[in-house]
Amino acid sequence: MDFSVKTGDADKLKSACVVVGVFSPRRLSPAAERLDKASRGQLTELLRQGDIGTDCGSTTLVHQPRGRVQAERILVVGCGKAKDFDARAYNKAAAAAARAVDAGAATEALSYLPELDVEGHSLAWKCRQVILASHDAAYRFDELKSDAKPPKKPLRKLAIGVGDKADAAEARQGVKQGRAVAAGVERARRLGNLPGNICTPAYLAAQARDIKASSDRLKVKVLEEKEMEKLGMGALLSVARGSRQPAKLISLEYNGGERGDKPVVLVGKGVTFDSGGISLKPGAAMDEMKFDMCGAASVLGTLAAAAELELPINLVGIVPATENLPDGDASKPGDIVTSMSGQTIEILNTDAEGRLILCDALTYAERFDPEVVVDIATLTGACIVALGHHRTGLLANDQELADELLAAGRNASDPAWQLPMGEEYDEQLKSNFADMANIGGKGAGTITAACFLGRFTKDYRWAHLDIAGVAWKSGHDKGATGRPVPLLMQFLMDRCEKGRDD
Ligand code: BES
Ligand code: MN
Ligand code: ZN
Repeated sequence: MDFSVKTGDADKLKSACVVVGVFSPRRLSPAAERLDKASRGQLTELLRQGDIGTDCGSTTLVHQPRGRVQAERILVVGCGKAKDFDARAYNKAAAAAARAVDAGAATEALSYLPELDVEGHSLAWKCRQVILASHDAAYRFDELKSDAKPPKKPLRKLAIGVGDKADAAEARQGVKQGRAVAAGVERARRLGNLPGNICTPAYLAAQARDIKASSDRLKVKVLEEKEMEKLGMGALLSVARGSRQPAKLISLEYNGGERGDKPVVLVGKGVTFDSGGISLKPGAAMDEMKFDMCGAASVLGTLAAAAELELPINLVGIVPATENLPDGDASKPGDIVTSMSGQTIEILNTDAEGRLILCDALTYAERFDPEVVVDIATLTGACIVALGHHRTGLLANDQELADELLAAGRNASDPAWQLPMGEEYDEQLKSNFADMANIGGKGAGTITAACFLGRFTKDYRWAHLDIAGVAWKSGHDKGATGRPVPLLMQFLMDRCEKGRDD
């Protein structure tokens, strides 16, 4: 889809569909006001008759508006009460508008939603959200359907309308950011939705190479199992034993900052299918374990987006990638392995495999001399019990970093919620036979998983995002969401802003 910014008044610009907001009970936004005047009160008339809904998220399409209106259609988007119009309501209105435009016949549209005031949010933010919503509405994963029919009239062009020339530059910046973040989200969703027989560890490595080709500032390196053996990555390799697909350790480096600036390192869990291994999962919904690489997908999507925006930052993405399958050679409960850090691990449950691959990747991260490390993983079912499908679980060994990520999540409407870490939880990992067990027993599964990782991240500031609940949807709408790419991009953009100020 093509995105742009147009300066001009809503009644004067030509368009197949102009999108404007109205508040309950009958308050027109500035752009709606202009259209109303130009159409000799058509909108007020329809509102009075009750033909235009003003509840937040309702949409009404007005065909061939009368008078001097230059657009062929007006899409009126209900925004609810002005006093309740917060970021959540704005996103709801933007999503409803995007769906209505996508379903309609117009192949080109002009949105004035960013003119609406949302407390605490900039024009650039409002433009970003409109673009993300349009991408989301237009997204389809049908590349594996033999009779996929493209929509008859897909939306090809979306312009953001700004009435005041002085706002055009900021709107353009927002559009640019929105485009990049949306592309990152889309890449992450596609990788998540691809099945395990296609999206293998080698496929993820090929993706990293594909992203590398988009920018001179990117470098890629893929370690094979032999090299991992040399590094002593016994934990990661223990998971790969049960699989015929060779494991890969992918690192993708983006150098947009100054030489010598310490990088932000993102580590993404890349289990391309998690059967549980010998501790086999039950059959119901096991297909969804193809999504167990969504952490890896979000890291790749974020690196692609950061490179597209040419963010002035150094960034490294690390993806340990493997399958977790049962086999005659697979790890067995009770097996003890030695991690790259030298610490030994008793594998009491082969289904707690994410932490086994992440711990070696986290030790590997040390060689990049990181400013901070954030790992992203579909790590525990317990996180879904705790937070449902709404918020990412966040745990950290550094409160400042945790606060930064929480703020970024709030701002990007991709929220996280912090859970505590502490010695009392860490003690649950005690093993009679090794330095630690890979499970923490009953209770606090998300926290004990993070404590496990915390034993490998002592040398740097680190945060862990458990995205088991937010990375995909089940049921009727089954599919990857692309989260938390918006959170991660907000985090990186905020860091770049801060760098500019001081
Ligand atoms: N990939 C799963 C976590 C998961 C489960 C994500 C369900 C989304 C939905 C992970 O590898 C896993 O199996 N974790 C176990 C850990 C347990 C054995 C301590 C879990 O959560 O059951
Ligand atoms: Mn598992
Ligand atoms: Zn898993």
